[in-house]
Amino acid sequence: MMKLSPSLMCTDLANVAKDINELDAAGVDQYHIDIMDGQFVPNFTLGPDFIHAVRQQTEKPLDIHAMVEMPERFIDLFHDAGADMIAIHAEATKNLQGTLTHIRDLGMKAGVAINPSTPLDVLNYVFNVSDYVIVMTVNPGFAGQKFIPAMYGKIRELKQIITEKHLDIAIEVDGNLGTETIPKCIEAGAEWFVGGSSSVYKKGHSLTDNVQTTKHLMAQ
Ligand code: DX5
Ligand code: ZN
Repeated sequence: MMKLSPSLMCTDLANVAKDINELDAAGVDQYHIDIMDGQFVPNFTLGPDFIHAVRQQTEKPLDIHAMVEMPERFIDLFHDAGADMIAIHAEATKNLQGTLTHIRDLGMKAGVAINPSTPLDVLNYVFNVSDYVIVMTVNPGFAGQKFIPAMYGKIRELKQIITEKHLDIAIEVDGNLGTETIPKCIEAGAEWFVGGSSSVYKKGHSLTDNVQTTKHLMAQ
C-alpha cells in the first residue's frame, strides 16, 4: 500500500502544530521524524521531546528515522515518547538483529535503513524481524540533496528479493522524492515515500496543494 510520510525536519519549526493540522486534513498517512546525533551524520535534528510534542498533536503513526550511532541506547526513549515505528541504520549498530527484535517486542514496527553505498546483503538474516526497509536515495544528513540514480536498481533488486521470498516488508524511500523521482521509484517497487523539500514542502505552494499533487503522483 502506498504511503506518504512528510519529513517533519522540513516543517516550519515555529509552526509545527499548525502544519500538522493542515497535513492531517490533507490526508497524509504517517509522519517521518528524522533524528540525527551529529556522529552518524554531520548534522543535528529532532529528538524524543519533539516526538512527544507531535504525539500530542496527531493520531497518525510516527515513523522514526534514527540516524544515530548505537541506536539500541535510545529505543525505549523513542517508544516512551510516542513512536509507532523505528528504523535504525544497519551501519550504526553491532546488534541489528537484537535491536530490531527489541523494537518489535515493544509493540512497534521495526525498520532497517541503509545508506546508498550499503549492499542489500546486510538484510539477509534480519528479514524475519523487519517490517520495512528504508532505502536511502541520498546520503543521510540533510534535506534538499540530489537523488542518487543507482538507487533505482537497488530498490528493484530489493523488491525482487521480497517477492521471491514472499516477505511482508514495505520499501520506504527517503531523499529527494519529487515529480521526477517518485514515478521511477514506484516502478522499481517502492511503497512508502518520505515527503521533503521536493514534494510536501516545495516552496511557493500550500502544504495542502503539495500533498494533493504528491498523492496524485503516487496514484499513477
Ligand atoms: C535526510 C533525511 C530525509 C530528508 C528528506 O537525511 O533522512 O528525511 O529530510 O528531505 P528531502 O526530500 O528534501 O531530501
Ligand atoms: Zn529520513
